[in-house]
Amino acid sequence: MIVEMTKDNLELISQFEKTFSTFFSCKNKINDDFRNNIFSKYFIYVEKSNIIGFVNYYDIYERFEIANIYVIPEHRNQQVGLKLLECVINIGFKKNIKNITLEVKIDNIYAIKLYEKCGFKKVALRKNYYDGIDGILMERKMM
Ligand SMILES: CC(C)(COP(=O)(O)OP(=O)(O)OC[C@H]1O[C@@H](n2cnc3c(N)ncnc32)[C@H](O)[C@@H]1OP(=O)(O)O)[C@@H](O)C(=O)NCCC(=O)NCCS
Repeated sequence: MIVEMTKDNLELISQFEKTFSTFFSCKNKINDDFRNNIFSKYFIYVEKSNIIGFVNYYDIYERFEIANIYVIPEHRNQQVGLKLLECVINIGFKKNIKNITLEVKIDNIYAIKLYEKCGFKKVALRKNYYDGIDGILMERKMM
């Protein structure tokens, strides 16, 4: 089941922070986002009451930007990432947005495969975007 987290859903937020604090040190950013960034959206994938993945994107008027998508290691390669991304794409269609963009490390082959499967195309190379590693700008046109 995919559920949106909002600043009103404190129970989900604290479960989310507990799950992902092992993988990220971005607890404050998440909290900050919920309170202050109206453009930032989080959708989580819940299975048997546990959060096993999430997608975070910015809903910026006529376009979306994917900031992060993450599935906990033991649940990877089971279409969780695919469903999260499809969820964002479907919301984008309903809102008539023009495109969705994202940046990905050039060596993140599984993520790139997932994005290509969902209709994203490589549009530019970002030299040294990630501390010496090149990034790729990808875009999914929506109209
Ligand atoms: C990238 C990530 C979100 C993919 O999530 P996932 O749930 O494992 O991906 P899915 O099972 O939905 O896979 C969808 C497609 O992606 C590709 N893919 C994903 N993982 C793969 C793997 N281990 N081997 C081969 N292909 C893979 C395939 O094309 C797959 O389609 P298929 O099953 O029909 O072959 C996950 O690997 C992850 O959390 N990685 C760490 C965080 C990260 O790098 N995020 C991206 C930042 S830009």
